[in-house]
Amino acid sequence: AFVVFSSISGVWGSGEQAAYGAANAALDALVARRRAQGLPGTAVAWGPWARVGMAADDETAAQLRRRGLSPMDPARALA
Ligand SMILES: NC(=O)c1ccc[n+]([C@@H]2O[C@H](COP(=O)([O-])OP(=O)(O)OC[C@H]3O[C@@H](n4cnc5c(N)ncnc54)[C@H](OP(=O)(O)O)[C@@H]3O)[C@@H](O)[C@H]2O)c1
Repeated sequence: AFVVFSSISGVWGSGEQAAYGAANAALDALVARRRAQGLPGTAVAWGPWARVGMAADDETAAQLRRRGLSPMDPARALA
């Protein structure tokens, strides 16, 4: 397996974070190229995680909620 943890920002841009969105789109493209070459590859485009990581602070979580993005419970997301 070749699994990368990408972000939905690669698709929707994640307002005011153009570089972050572009970086995640590049990660998705890396996996797409591997698969086209017959190599294993999976990109999981996560939404925002609750409680841990870069989107866990109250201000960021509130901004994401205003855009319709609910933070994911880590245990449920991993399951
Ligand atoms: N959190 C989310 O909601 C979310 C959603 C979708 C995708 N993701 C993706 O999941 C990954 C992890 O996110 P996170 O929220 O856990 O981020 P985070 O809390 O900011 O942690 C980032 C980790 O990367 C390390 N790091 C940063 N720059 C590095 C470098 N130049 N070389 C080596 N290590 C470096 C940091 O190490 P130090 O602690 O030593 O600085 C830290 O352990 C990211 O790729 C992110 O795009 C996260």
